[in-house]
Amino acid sequence: MTWTPSPMPCATPSSSIPRIVLGVAGGIAAYKSVELLRLLRDRGYHVACVLTPDATRFVGAVTFSALASEPTRTSLYNDPTTPIPHTYLGTHASVVVVAPATAHLIARYATGLADDLLTATLLATRAPVLLCPAMHTEMWEQPSVQENLATLRRRGVMILEPESGPLAGGDEGAGRLPEPETIAELVSNIVDGYRGVLSGRRVLVSAGGTREAIDPVRVISNRSSGRQGLALAEVAVRLGAQVTLVSTVTTPLALDVAQAIDVIHVENAAEMHEAMQKRSVDSDVVIMAAAVADFTLTPSNVKLKKRDGVPQLQLMAVADIVSDLVTRRHEGQLIVGFAAETSDVLKNAAAKMRDKGVDLLIANDVAAPGVGFGHETNEVVIFAREGEPQRISLRSKEAVAYEILARVAALLPQGAP
Ligand code: CTP
Repeated sequence: MTWTPSPMPCATPSSSIPRIVLGVAGGIAAYKSVELLRLLRDRGYHVACVLTPDATRFVGAVTFSALASEPTRTSLYNDPTTPIPHTYLGTHASVVVVAPATAHLIARYATGLADDLLTATLLATRAPVLLCPAMHTEMWEQPSVQENLATLRRRGVMILEPESGPLAGGDEGAGRLPEPETIAELVSNIVDGYRGVLSGRRVLVSAGGTREAIDPVRVISNRSSGRQGLALAEVAVRLGAQVTLVSTVTTPLALDVAQAIDVIHVENAAEMHEAMQKRSVDSDVVIMAAAVADFTLTPSNVKLKKRDGVPQLQLMAVADIVSDLVTRRHEGQLIVGFAAETSDVLKNAAAKMRDKGVDLLIANDVAAPGVGFGHETNEVVIFAREGEPQRISLRSKEAVAYEILARVAALLPQGAP
């Protein structure tokens, strides 16, 4: 017997209306998802909700159905309109957002289990996925949870880090679902990305810490992991850009976009300078996320021997790459700098923005917990030539990259390319 799909039980949304699948897993923060649903509907999106069976213990499916664009689904099997709701939802989604994402849901998604409608939808979609984990601090800090999240990040899934604050049962700590407004804002930026806000733009990103050779064995370097730069390159691809990455590190690049990035591997500041100069000529956007050495030296050709005593290293100043690129900037080109600070962050960053002449400056306090070098998360303040600085609270480096690139897209001259 052949099966004929029946029409959806609601008016089919116009294809120009972004379709959001809101997944809700079984955690107490599920009550906040009702507010998130309302905010997403207020933004004009078509929202379809999928609750795991455990989620329905916290909030009723009827509540979501009353606010959503179509009846809420809770099972792979009880949808009268289609025997394959997971592929229907997955393939029609502009974005899939899961809030809250529990440790159990994250583990199932990371291992490719599809034993309910929500996990099956996650596996069936090629749309951007945003997970918003929420759980008790002890669970959040479990290496198994963090490793599952790292796996998902590597595959291109965006993670909005939980906030610190009061948790269920009177506890306090990291694990709180961010406010629905924050999640809705991020979903909007992803939706804009899905529409390709950087479509056709050429984006040049530098990443990683430079390594200045002392001899064939030893280097002078810094603690940069390159993760924020790599995340910027990945997200720029997802936003439709043609991306060149000049980097001292190339892992972990998300697998879904790695192929699309033109990678130039460099080691030291001089090589990075040369590559950036060459590639910036035909770039619409230049992002200097690399931690460049300020000092270098003429390396010895042979390994310095201990028996010869403590070497007297003669350091020399390195040219400031971003300032040089600013002097060569062509009409309409946008240049973004970073500021790694450990004290007087806002004051130092504002001065750096003026001194370097960049269009946007991304400041981070690299001494703060979970921020900057080596971490998977970041918290930044975006300075622009006009307007108040914009603080982006602690979240994954991919999510920070979305915020930065949304600002970049808004500043690019209209009409081009
Ligand atoms: N930068 C650069 N070339 C350098 C040093 C830094 O292009 N030789 C860029 C960085 O990529 C970043 C910005 O300048 O976009 C600020 O880098 P940061 O390390 O924060 O500051 P510095 O300019 O090095 O100044 P300081 O170390 O005194 O804070």
